[in-house]
Amino acid sequence: MGSDHCTSSFRDASYKILPYCYEEPIGLDAATKAASDPSFKPRPRIFDEFALTDRVSVITGASRGIGLDIALALGEAGSRAVYCIDIPDQPSEDWKISRDYIRKMDNGSRLEYVQADVRNQQEIWDKVEDIANKEGRMDVCVANAGILRFGTYCLDWTAEQFQEASLRDVMDVNTNGALFTAQAAGRQMKRFGQPGSIIMTASISGHIVNKGCEGLPYNTSKSAVLQMTRSMACELGPYNIRVNSISPGYILTKLTSMMLVDEPELVDSWAQSNPMGRIGSPRELRGLVTWLASDASSFCTGSDILITAGHHAW
Ligand SMILES: NC(=O)c1ccc[n+]([C@@H]2O[C@H](COP(=O)([O-])OP(=O)(O)OC[C@H]3O[C@@H](n4cnc5c(N)ncnc54)[C@H](O)[C@@H]3O)[C@@H](O)[C@H]2O)c1
Repeated sequence: MGSDHCTSSFRDASYKILPYCYEEPIGLDAATKAASDPSFKPRPRIFDEFALTDRVSVITGASRGIGLDIALALGEAGSRAVYCIDIPDQPSEDWKISRDYIRKMDNGSRLEYVQADVRNQQEIWDKVEDIANKEGRMDVCVANAGILRFGTYCLDWTAEQFQEASLRDVMDVNTNGALFTAQAAGRQMKRFGQPGSIIMTASISGHIVNKGCEGLPYNTSKSAVLQMTRSMACELGPYNIRVNSISPGYILTKLTSMMLVDEPELVDSWAQSNPMGRIGSPRELRGLVTWLASDASSFCTGSDILITAGHHAW
């Protein structure tokens, strides 16, 4: 963004176009310029649109699993600083080697670790505000922290158990924590008057029920994230802050592999739950999240992107 390359024909047509103009023309604008200006050198621009150069990112649940792979992707895309927020006092060994890997890339990016619990609204607001003050901006937020609990039949939940899930457990982390994280970043994006992209990690379980799993609070928590995404997108759209969610299918991480310890045969039924016949890797979410974080998705908000190997189609 910066100088104006919206075509005059669009301007004259009084269309309501987002004030969203690239430093250099792209697509047909570039082709049109190349046709009339011999000094204009055509070059591929599509990957530039995915670049996060100089942007500041925060991501929760990023000491491991999906969050850590997303942090690496944002760093590789050039995000100046990727703040990885998670519950342990110290990050995992995987996080440390990831930090070193990005450092060695020498692309102007770095990974930072911040301890915080997404269930604590004031803590997450304060820590994200500190980051924004230090960096002078806030551009990308991935509300990714989540926990999984399966195993209570729907008719057996007592009020106490369900309130526990809502106040201290699965719904507290997955739903309340996602809200508090998105609020924390959205407040800073609005304060700095910059465009921003907030991405919520929802789940296939917010759309369908995992066959054979009694996961009422988890499924409810992820469904709530889908509608929270749409609500926030509508309220933040006027500030050019976009809010979208991703809904992965089965991805092999600690969260899922813990279930396989007792029931290793589950992996086959998970793989057979989609037409591609396999489960996914956190690496397969890199492209999607980078797209959503970047200007390449500038007209996308209030959307959920299913990334499930077709699980949702069956
Ligand atoms: N793995 C899958 O198949 C799958 C599928 C769909 C959605 N998801 C979602 O993706 C997200 C990441 O899951 P994952 O598979 O990487 O799991 P994971 O358990 O490997 O990682 C989750 C991370 O969140 C952190 N976390 C948990 N509670 C927290 C809290 N209160 N505050 C801050 N951090 C906290 C954990 O410490 C951990 O590092 C979750 O929201 C999960 O529901 C996972």
